[in-house]
Amino acid sequence: MMDRRHSQGYSDAGFTDEAEGSPAASQFSQAMEGSSMSDTRGTVDYGNWVPWKLVYIPAILAIVFMGFSLWWRPLLLGAFLCILASGYLIYARRQFSPEGGNLQARLRDIVFAHLAWNGDGTLLDIGCGNGALAVEAARRYPHAQVTGIDCWGGKWEYSIERCQSNALNASVAERTRFQKASAARLPFPDETFDVVVSNMVFHEVQEARDKRTVIREALRVLKKGGVFSFQDLFVWKSLYGEPQDLVAAVRSWGIDEVNLIDTSRQSFVPRSMRLPFTVGDTGLLCGTK
Ligand SMILES: C[S@@+](CC[C@H](N)C(=O)[O-])C[C@H]1O[C@@H](n2cnc3c(N)ncnc32)[C@H](O)[C@@H]1O
Repeated sequence: MMDRRHSQGYSDAGFTDEAEGSPAASQFSQAMEGSSMSDTRGTVDYGNWVPWKLVYIPAILAIVFMGFSLWWRPLLLGAFLCILASGYLIYARRQFSPEGGNLQARLRDIVFAHLAWNGDGTLLDIGCGNGALAVEAARRYPHAQVTGIDCWGGKWEYSIERCQSNALNASVAERTRFQKASAARLPFPDETFDVVVSNMVFHEVQEARDKRTVIREALRVLKKGGVFSFQDLFVWKSLYGEPQDLVAAVRSWGIDEVNLIDTSRQSFVPRSMRLPFTVGDTGLLCGTK
């Protein structure tokens, strides 16, 4: 479970601790009630944030280094480091998966925990992967119409077909649809959706050098009065800047309520997984337009 004692937030009022019994804490409890069904029920497959390709590359390099070390011994050190990297990535894969630490589902639950929504209307999941947030949103909110977009391909093992089969297996196919699109330029008019969510995507958007523009694009398609909950590497300052500047920038785009919560120190995340630029730099940006 998320450790609220270590969940620190930044809003216009400054950093605040999220107290037990606060509205956000109560929303969190409600969200957690429905969360345990996540990846293990039925035959949904939400994939893994560590694709096999990432594991294979250092493993292949290790073999190459070992081969060339017959001519130049110091290359054995390179081979050793590559084996270490490959081993760590296999460990991280296990931690993220439902068979191991189930970290992906637990981090995903934080997005829902801070979503102040009654479930009526339309929800957009940006960078939906295999439909993890989108399908779970449709499960949690039985009246919601859910759209998931992703560019799919590249290093990832996700696909639109897997999103659709996950939605079918979760019995939410009639209320979910998936579409290929880029988070950098969403194919929707301004103020289309009641809710916009996203989990661990914005830093991946190659078309945007300034990742703040991806946040702005996501908020463009949110209706006035709509709510949002985005989790990404918002604590990574070289990517998003100082927290107070990020919050001020988002407010300057006409967003009424903005909170930035440091989610990088959850007790359920093992220390070995809290590397910088990964799970060790996560934050949640949420609020109301
Ligand atoms: C770490 S995965 C997260 C997937 C999903 N949100 C989840 O929680 O499982 C990052 C996702 O971002 C997607 N992505 C990367 N660049 C994108 C872009 N420009 N537009 C849309 N999606 C993008 C990838 O295809 C991948 O599905």
